[in-house]
Amino acid sequence: MKSVAVIPGDGVGPEVTREAVATLEALRLDLKFDHLDHVNAGRWLTAGVAMTDDDFERVRASDCVLFGAVGDPRVTSVEYARQVLLRLRLELDLYVNHRPALLLHERLSPLRDPDRRNVDLVVVRENTEGLYVGVGGVLRRGTPDEVAMDQEVNTRLGVSRVIDYAFRVARRAVCMVDKSNAVKHGGQLWRRCWSEATAKAGARLATSHLYVDAAAMRLVADPSEFDVIVTNNSYGDILSDLTAQLVGGMGVAASANLNPDTGFGLFEPVHGSAPDIAGQGVANPVGAILSAALLLRSQGYGDAATAVEQAVASTVAAGRCTPDLGGSLSTEEAGRAIRAELTWSG
Ligand code: NAI
Ligand code: MG
Repeated sequence: MKSVAVIPGDGVGPEVTREAVATLEALRLDLKFDHLDHVNAGRWLTAGVAMTDDDFERVRASDCVLFGAVGDPRVTSVEYARQVLLRLRLELDLYVNHRPALLLHERLSPLRDPDRRNVDLVVVRENTEGLYVGVGGVLRRGTPDEVAMDQEVNTRLGVSRVIDYAFRVARRAVCMVDKSNAVKHGGQLWRRCWSEATAKAGARLATSHLYVDAAAMRLVADPSEFDVIVTNNSYGDILSDLTAQLVGGMGVAASANLNPDTGFGLFEPVHGSAPDIAGQGVANPVGAILSAALLLRSQGYGDAATAVEQAVASTVAAGRCTPDLGGSLSTEEAGRAIRAELTWSG
């Protein structure tokens, strides 16, 4: 029996998470759900707190989390996201953000050359350090002399463990991406950890290094070159949006926030709360459903995960999908179409 904490969040979060939960339920596995529907922006706005310590303990007591998205146009403070998603990532030490990009159908690729459309890669993003830890400050706020600083944190432990993870999940190649020619101190630490890891790994995998600007260019020129890309928090954030677009856009991108040492994971679509389409019933549930497949694989239900991924691929190939992928189904209809394709007998 595995327990799954479910935090749908805001905007399209609840719409797509509903379909992901329904997909997990359709598999009739030994899963128990703990629903935390109240962890959202509405509560933040009325109560000044979104996730209480009690909520946090419920999450910690479960085996994993299925997460929708947080973000609301009425919330201007960054504190809200910090208290929910960033708190979970940092306090549960989910140091790997595993973001696969797999082209489900040729027509979803924006690339001209068919030979280069074969995208099946993973961006491994460092998830607990870098520029997103909130270290820094503001001086002389609001004056012409204002100074704002955000410091990038890189630790040997943090860098080496995420590089080790990249080597463990790679099938043929690992590419390390940084900007060590311009961002000196952290960049050099990444380069040293990388050298040590490549020496340790031997010749099993091809290895390469790219500066992040060149990596962005190569990803558009020929993404079929790549298998696993490992990089820091901010470059991983940006490059994984790029790779998402290479395989059909935000609606299909899935992710896992993992601590490989404890086995705990938080699984969420890459997209945010999409206020521009929230409430219209058109959000694509594929990113959330593929995130649920990642959840299943991490919890020891590998065959069920594969069944979900195959059901998603065949419905998308048949054009039974939401408008962002060229279909005309609603969120709920697309979720139902995927569940109808599930060939799973348990
Ligand atoms: P977004 O990912 O919500 O939307 C970007 C674009 O992708 C929009 O045009 C949207 O309509 C489209 N899109 C997103 N999800 C889709 C889906 N399932 N199906 C079809 N189209 C989809 O990013 P945006 O607009 O920058 O941020 C909106 C809010 O979400 C903000 O408050 C932001 O802070 C938050 N956010 C939260 C994240 C999280 O919870 N992990 C991640 C990114 C943003
Ligand atoms: Mg992002």
